[in-house]
Amino acid sequence: MKNFNGKCAYITGGSSGIGLEMGKLLAAEGADVVLIARNKKKLDEAAALISAMRRDASRRVLTLSVDVSDNKDVVKKMKEAVKKIGAPDLLVNSAGINKWADRFENITFDMFDEVMKINLYGARNMTHALIDSIKEKKGHVVILSSAAAIFGMFGYTAYATSKAALLAFAESLRYELKPAGVSVTVVCPPEVDTPMNYDEAKTLPPEGRAVKSLGGFLMPDKVARDILDAVRKDRYFFVPGFSTRVLYALHRFTNGAITRITADAVIKRASSKH
Ligand SMILES: NC(=O)c1ccc[n+]([C@@H]2O[C@H](COP(=O)([O-])OP(=O)(O)OC[C@H]3O[C@@H](n4cnc5c(N)ncnc54)[C@H](OP(=O)(O)O)[C@@H]3O)[C@@H](O)[C@H]2O)c1
Repeated sequence: MKNFNGKCAYITGGSSGIGLEMGKLLAAEGADVVLIARNKKKLDEAAALISAMRRDASRRVLTLSVDVSDNKDVVKKMKEAVKKIGAPDLLVNSAGINKWADRFENITFDMFDEVMKINLYGARNMTHALIDSIKEKKGHVVILSSAAAIFGMFGYTAYATSKAALLAFAESLRYELKPAGVSVTVVCPPEVDTPMNYDEAKTLPPEGRAVKSLGGFLMPDKVARDILDAVRKDRYFFVPGFSTRVLYALHRFTNGAITRITADAVIKRASSKH
């Protein structure tokens, strides 16, 4: 997809953070934007912000209150949406949570399950519900994974597992969709300045906090712009941020040895301080 003018973008997690910034940019380029999240008030506030940035008043900014982890809700509302609004050219799976970032022994089965249901099954449910219409449009599916899917992280057994599963999901999906003319882009950002981090900070152990800083800290508008460039260039795999790309290259080149030695040393220092 070389440009987004006249295209229709469905964005889960479109009321906040990276999804919200992608909505602003897409609307400014002339796309119709459908924001999908649970909280109606947050959706309406996001829609107002995005509407103000539309390329012209004929472009639509719509909201749908959907829990992506609830497949029945997703199937029903996506069917109605495609009928009323039209099929998506672009599906951005950005909805996600990072509650319960903590040592593994402190994460109950229900906590682990909640993270998996939203982060992994949410993307599965949305993509499954829209797959036929995306194929008709020869569209593009974006999946927000995380740098934690590549490196793992202290305190992230639930979150990193959900995000690593998305990498395998995306890779498999890509093979199936390419012959149908549908592209997939999977994105692995490091820490981005969004509300997600405030939730996570409530429980993230100091060791996790220290290791996380190795990856750098990005602004959501820059990440959103870079993701849209990756879509334009039809890139499959994209790691935003220079520091994370360097770490990723080292990780691959040394089969994880360098990043593990570095993270172990950082964890040891953080533990001794606390
Ligand atoms: N921020 C980071 O540091 C970072 C780093 C790497 C990857 N990522 C990934 O990037 C994506 C976007 O994160 P962000 O930082 O932009 O987060 P954010 O600002 O916290 O936004 C999360 C969005 O997801 C929605 N959401 C959460 N649970 C949902 C559910 N069950 N159904 C529908 N919508 C739901 C939220 O709205 P409601 O709560 O109203 O539903 C909100 O719109 C996530 O997948 C995240 O894992 C983020």
